[in-house]
Amino acid sequence: PAERAALKDKIRRLLKEKNAVMVSHYYVHPDLQDLAEETGGIVSDSLKMARFGRDHAAQTLVVSGVRFMGETAKILSPEKTVLMPDLDATCSLDLGCPIDEFSAFCDQHPERTVVVYANTSAAVKARADWLVTSSCALDIVRALKDAGHKILWAPDRHLGAYIERETGADMVFWNGACIVHDEFKALELELLKKEHPQAKVLVHPESPPEVVALADAVGSTSAILQAAREMDAREFIVATDNGMMHKLRRLNPGKTFHEAPTAGNSATCKSCAHCPWMAMNGLADVARVLETGANAIHVDPALIPRARQPIDRMLAFTA
Ligand code: 13P
Ligand code: SF4
Repeated sequence: PAERAALKDKIRRLLKEKNAVMVSHYYVHPDLQDLAEETGGIVSDSLKMARFGRDHAAQTLVVSGVRFMGETAKILSPEKTVLMPDLDATCSLDLGCPIDEFSAFCDQHPERTVVVYANTSAAVKARADWLVTSSCALDIVRALKDAGHKILWAPDRHLGAYIERETGADMVFWNGACIVHDEFKALELELLKKEHPQAKVLVHPESPPEVVALADAVGSTSAILQAAREMDAREFIVATDNGMMHKLRRLNPGKTFHEAPTAGNSATCKSCAHCPWMAMNGLADVARVLETGANAIHVDPALIPRARQPIDRMLAFTA
């Protein structure tokens, strides 16, 4: 604890010295969430992280999350320095959607509007017409469908299938998945619901369809937070990365939150729903990158103008 407190003090001092601001995702360690908020930064979902980073006056952004979040910040503000605690913090959706294969898939469907999830590389974004995050995907696809578009969707097949069910849009899918949400299990969830009959079930739409079908509310990390605040219930079961529990409990004292079961829940692993890449973000690395300027995100300047188009469209749509 003494070491953590010293690191936090050091980070507070360095943020001021370097005119830097922290942007953290809900899935990173509670220390990094609290520190971001306390120092004038933000803890949020991927959409709000992008907008905050673009609009903040600080010339240095420290993005605690995974690589695509740092890259999006850099694409939106190439003149800023974007630092990340660990540059190897990636995402199974990004890894599972290499640009060459994705581009060939797009070439097979030239008549379709290409909609990609934020959890992708800059090169994949540069091949897309629209970018979406889980908090705006439904509204954007619905608007595109109403305007007569057929959709090519990548990379998360569960989120894509959820949107197809909700909107009735004509969609073809890339076959990607989030290794965290893909692990939630419907049968075990039904059993847990029986143990807690009053509990409402909150599910992130990257989860499998059988799990989504058991939800009382489906949505992005922000939508889950909102549902927990607004729903008339004292008890919840939550199917998303357990990093979310920190904010859920902080904002809802007196309410009880249970983690939804994954295949790995057992006597030895009670909380398996945690992204290994989000877990790579730590206090010591934040202090180190602020001090040394190491781990600056670089995006190929040739990609930036084209990659920015779908991001700008999303930000304008959701403004
Ligand atoms: P949100 O876009 O809901 O923040 O979550 C996406 C995600 O899984 C980030 O890794
Ligand atoms: Fe990617 Fe899933 Fe981790 Fe989010 S939680 S960064 S979608 S692997």
